[in-house]
Amino acid sequence: MLVSATEMLNKARDGHYAVGQFNINNLEWTKAILLTAQELNSPVILGVSEGAGKYMTGFKTVAAMVDSMVNDLGITVPVALHLDHGSYEGAKACIEAGFSSIMFDGSHYPIDENIAKTTELVELAHSKGLSIEAEVGAIGGEEDGVIGNGEVADPDECKRIASLGIDFLAAGIGNIHGKYPANWKGLDFEALDSIHNATDGIPLVLHGGTGIPADMIKKAISLGVSKINVNTECQLSFAAATRGYIEAGKDLEGKGFDPRKLLAPGVEAIKATVREKMELFGSVNKA
Ligand code: 13P
Repeated sequence: MLVSATEMLNKARDGHYAVGQFNINNLEWTKAILLTAQELNSPVILGVSEGAGKYMTGFKTVAAMVDSMVNDLGITVPVALHLDHGSYEGAKACIEAGFSSIMFDGSHYPIDENIAKTTELVELAHSKGLSIEAEVGAIGGEEDGVIGNGEVADPDECKRIASLGIDFLAAGIGNIHGKYPANWKGLDFEALDSIHNATDGIPLVLHGGTGIPADMIKKAISLGVSKINVNTECQLSFAAATRGYIEAGKDLEGKGFDPRKLLAPGVEAIKATVREKMELFGSVNKA
């Protein structure tokens, strides 16, 4: 059974570790992440972007696949199925489709509109037992028109959004999605500390988990980060392993072209990445 992410993240906050959100793209991704979570006895959040939802033919297909897979694989650790960076419409669709958690990303709206939409979705999500993450509009991070170091959220806006009854909060602290540029200045811990102090202990979410050095991850967890999102890193390890298989000519040997063989190294690579992150985040044996 899928669960909301509230309890697992409150436990993570109290226990000073973080739960990983790993984004899924297909059956192989989902299976690799679920099996690793079970093996390590770790809670896990499966993230689905709107684009990935569309790719997998729709949120209902995703919810049905994940729900059945948890059952068929005998997964007993807590699993949340979470919409990542949802629009207002997408959030409503996922509540209907059987997700157990949603993110409403209203960060591009003016703060009052973000607040109005978030308030409405909090009520709707909670009435159906789902958890909800919100994101706050961001400031700074821009120099000469070039955004090089990610955005930094305003603690007062964080406080306003956190007080709406959301279950966890995403706030920019210099983090960005995808690979970090070579001249990245690192996470802004002063900003994180102010946000943490302004938001009354609500579990904080760190997006852009790919490529953040281990010491920064640990410091972020010590300052209230309880959920860390990882997407690109699994994609990179899957691609590298698949490339290795094809470049070694293995698809040309025997039945090496069978997708169950061709995709196997990529699946193992995703498992290794997820394992590494769960160990770093401290969620192993916290199920
Ligand atoms: P990365 O792709 O940088 O790991 O970020 C993932 C993320 O934050 C999804 O919301």
